Amino acid sequence: MDIHEANKRIEELRTLLWENSRRYYVENSPTMSDFEFDARMHELEALEAQFPELITPDSPTQKVGSDLEEEGGARGGFAQYPHRYPMLSLGNTYNIEDIEAFVQRAEKVLDGTKFTYSCELKFDGTAICLNYRNGVLYRALTRGDGVVGDDVTRNVRKIKNIPERLSGSGWPADFEIRGEILMPYEAFDRLNREREEQEEQPFANPRNAASGSLKLLSSSEVARRGLWCTLYHIPAESLTGEDGQPIFETHSQALDAAASWGLPVSEDRRICRNISDIEDYIHYWDGARRSLPYATDGIVIKINELPLQRTLGFTAKSPRWAVAFKFQAERALTPLLSIDYQVGRTGTVTPVANLRPVLLSGTVVKRATLNNADQMALLDIREGDWVYVEKGGEIIPKITGIELAKRPEGALPPVFPKTCPDCGTPLVRDEGEARWYCPNSLNCPMQIQGRLIHFMSRKAMNVLAGEMTVEQLYRLGLARTPADLYELSALQLMALEGWKERSVIRFMDSLENSKQVPFERVLFALGIRFVGETTARSIARHFGDIDSLMAASQEELLAVGDVGEVIARSVYDFMHDPDALDQIARLRAAGLRFTVGERKQSLSAVLEGKTIVISGNFSISRDAMKELISLHGGKPSSSVSSKTAFLLAGEKPGPEKLHKASELGVKVISEAEFRAMLPDEAPAQGGLFDNEPTLFD
Ligand code: IVH
Repeated sequence: MDIHEANKRIEELRTLLWENSRRYYVENSPTMSDFEFDARMHELEALEAQFPELITPDSPTQKVGSDLEEEGGARGGFAQYPHRYPMLSLGNTYNIEDIEAFVQRAEKVLDGTKFTYSCELKFDGTAICLNYRNGVLYRALTRGDGVVGDDVTRNVRKIKNIPERLSGSGWPADFEIRGEILMPYEAFDRLNREREEQEEQPFANPRNAASGSLKLLSSSEVARRGLWCTLYHIPAESLTGEDGQPIFETHSQALDAAASWGLPVSEDRRICRNISDIEDYIHYWDGARRSLPYATDGIVIKINELPLQRTLGFTAKSPRWAVAFKFQAERALTPLLSIDYQVGRTGTVTPVANLRPVLLSGTVVKRATLNNADQMALLDIREGDWVYVEKGGEIIPKITGIELAKRPEGALPPVFPKTCPDCGTPLVRDEGEARWYCPNSLNCPMQIQGRLIHFMSRKAMNVLAGEMTVEQLYRLGLARTPADLYELSALQLMALEGWKERSVIRFMDSLENSKQVPFERVLFALGIRFVGETTARSIARHFGDIDSLMAASQEELLAVGDVGEVIARSVYDFMHDPDALDQIARLRAAGLRFTVGERKQSLSAVLEGKTIVISGNFSISRDAMKELISLHGGKPSSSVSSKTAFLLAGEKPGPEKLHKASELGVKVISEAEFRAMLPDEAPAQGGLFDNEPTLFD
């Protein structure tokens, strides 16, 4: 198809999709089935990928739906509907005394009546309200302002554990059930990794990621985000039979029934009889929640008997029959000692706070990132401030606030440097970007070392050496570029301070092994700006070898799925930079792989015939882990079945996989156990010197 034909078809598709969206959301009478809509959206996405110059900001593929806060309603593509019963919030507290008071009040009002409490986790996502009519999902609304919500039905249909049709029997003909849409940590980490690779702003926490994802206009993108749902409340009005009589006695019976209809309901609920049961539940989950695969921020305590809920009723804002106990966010207060300005391999200057070491959820925190100058200004951080550090769903601790009461008198804001802290070159800031950077990419020592560290990193060439080694090689003038590494000799290294025969052999072996690293990782290792692991893979697969890539025009680069204007320009510039071309030529001569080739010879057959499912995060990327399995003869697979040899569980494994494994009696093993099965596994961490520092140790 040529560009004129493509343009015509793109226009047709856009008109079709917009018109259907309007009919679907505003008039509630779509002209297309969801299946058809998705197929057309895919067709448009594919055409736009092929002809990116035809992408316009108003294309349905580019639109993110508006939120209620931004008045104006269906502008962003989501119609709004009133809730049948307002979506209220919950009274909440951080004090256990308030929970005791809640229990006492309930006992007093219900004067002698026997009753129980349903204790549940408080899920930290974004609220959702599902409506089922005759057992079929027909509408899903966000909370909105509690009275009116956004219609996100199309997106909710893409969430795997929300059934389109109910199973079992006994469901009311027309009813509503409410709960939370969550983004499990695993999906959150993956999404943020992708965003960082593309130099997009990562989501601050899984909650924001969940609500942002639910409001995307492209439901195929929603499907990729790995959202999850848990349901916890059926409004009493929804729980009456045809005769108008309540069909359940208690809230927990209603949720058990919902589970039997195939709806996702938490199994971690417990019926409590008194305050002591409630306190046990709270204490248990205050610790145990850390091993859940998604975020929770407290406990909800509900009077379980539905007639008693009716007796207690509601205030204007929340039910009187329920209360939330919120867990203290894990944060610590500590003085700011100083701020380092670190220069990364692309020249970006990142402010990093040095803190008085403080214990935070089991680890000592000494440093926290301040991201950039804008973030520092937003916090209004001053020299000598006491700062709050928190670990949210994220791994890197961050400064979330300042204790103003402890601010020293006359404290001044820190001065962001005007020149590179390493080479003294005046820093530059591009219009519209938050980052300041050092433009001296060729000669700035930190950038040179940063590029070497990136090249040698695990996800790239996996050369076993740490930052101090790189610093030493650089200082002695032995290595400035990746290609220099391959020209080092064992004899040269033996003469250097701190190197022993064993460390030289290990280093030289890992350099030798790196010649087997596939082209896609070599491309990633080159450190082309904006080209992360995922993009490097797409580009490598698309072009097949470095010669075709070097010959590619920007238009040809844009034909790669993940590549937009910014990446295309960056790759094109790199492939036309004389220094970069010289590097490529030397690395090629050293024997690195610059072609997508046949799979390398295998490393062993210890996993021969074994199907292995992986879940969670590992010390290497998930793709690298799959590759490792294949290299030892195993077969990586995505779902647990009776044929699975074992489930390899990293950090935060998916709950469904763990559940399935325990159901089928499939063994679950850790990364350490797995590595122990492999012959001659290289040690997990590089670094020739002990205790080589990393940024966030
Ligand atoms: S019950 C009428 N149960 O927390 C009240 N809410 O801060 C119905 N939430 O609005 C809500 N987990 O979005 C309930 N197990 C749970 C919950 C829960 C999380 C959310 C919900 C609520 C908010 C209050």
